Amino acid sequence: MKKDIAILAFSGGLDSTISVDWIKKNYGYEVVTLTVDLGGGQFSADLEKRAKKAGASDCLIWDVKEEFAKDFILPSLLAGAIYENEYLLATSIGRPLMAKKLVEAAIEYDAKAVAHGCTGKGNDQVRFDTAIKTLSSDSPLEIIAPAREASLTRDEEKEYAKKLDIKLPGVGERVYSIDRNLWGLAIEGEDLEDPWIEPPEDAYMITSSLEDAPKKPKYIEISFNKGTPVKLNGKKLGLVNLIEELNDIAGLCGVGRTIHVENRLVGIKSRETYEAPAATVLYKSLQSLEKLNLSRDQQRMKSMISTTYSDLVYDGRWYSGLRENLDAYCKSSARYLTGDVRIKLFKSNCEVVGVRSPYSLYSFDLATYSSEDKFDHNSAVGFIDIYSLPSRIQRKQQIHDEMG
Ligand code: ARG
Repeated sequence: MKKDIAILAFSGGLDSTISVDWIKKNYGYEVVTLTVDLGGGQFSADLEKRAKKAGASDCLIWDVKEEFAKDFILPSLLAGAIYENEYLLATSIGRPLMAKKLVEAAIEYDAKAVAHGCTGKGNDQVRFDTAIKTLSSDSPLEIIAPAREASLTRDEEKEYAKKLDIKLPGVGERVYSIDRNLWGLAIEGEDLEDPWIEPPEDAYMITSSLEDAPKKPKYIEISFNKGTPVKLNGKKLGLVNLIEELNDIAGLCGVGRTIHVENRLVGIKSRETYEAPAATVLYKSLQSLEKLNLSRDQQRMKSMISTTYSDLVYDGRWYSGLRENLDAYCKSSARYLTGDVRIKLFKSNCEVVGVRSPYSLYSFDLATYSSEDKFDHNSAVGFIDIYSLPSRIQRKQQIHDEMG
């Protein structure tokens, strides 16, 4: 009899590698691995060999970088998505696309189940499961999560891998849990879990340390068209290439590292270490263009939307009506975000030092303190008279005593 098939999201890391064997033994299913390439160059060349060695009957590798950049990174950039002011959400936006591809592969292989290597205490399980359930609601797929079901500790997982004679990419005894894509990477586990301990230098993969970053500042220029970055240093580039090049340039200057304690959706706080050089530069650059081109009201609305959007994406609600509604707002608010931004990258610092746009709302004549000043100072007096009216009346009628 033909065995049922499970499609397993496969990165070649510890969790997903031992999952192949675990599913075969515990479910009796045939396992097809699916590696979803979201960029960032994270996969080892022997991925297929590793999958087969772990017991997979087939190994798919799908390059979805373009789709990731266009449909996931760009909307998040336009929304100014940053979780708790620190995390640019690389993993959070990667998961829904991976889930989408798992469902597509399941249809192609007529599979009964899909599987992922998430544990039972992270956000990723919520993102995967919610997206899979949402996208396959017509004919629900079984979801298998070996790490969650077997509840193995990191050391037990390492032991399991040893028994299967599977070598793991790691530094000495340290095996970090790394999730990497075009938009950035998250490093977890081992000594990083102690918020008091500074992450060791070998935990970082794509950014230089402050000490090793070049001694001279690097100036770059990014051009935007309706919020989409289209040129780097005057060179026209597609979004994927632009982000790749920017990751290299900014990463070399040590830009984009973040260490913080984060509130997970599942209720616990976790210590997180991130690298996101290109995302950091693009986020700051677009924000500087917004400051130039959006009205104050638009900026306030945008920052409210950013917070809601970030929580929504972090919490695994990518495939929701609200996210689509917010995208429509952000796209509309980006209509005039066309212009150039000049950035100075220096010793892990990313500073916007220049911004210009044909749609700029900045008026030199109004802002200057020089003799070219065109602002009507006299009308300020009348403005303040009316502006202060409510507080003057209130003070007189109500709060005179308290305020003395
Ligand atoms: N804390 C981040 C998030 O929830 C990153 C998770 C990274 N996952 C991993 N398996 N290393 O989005």
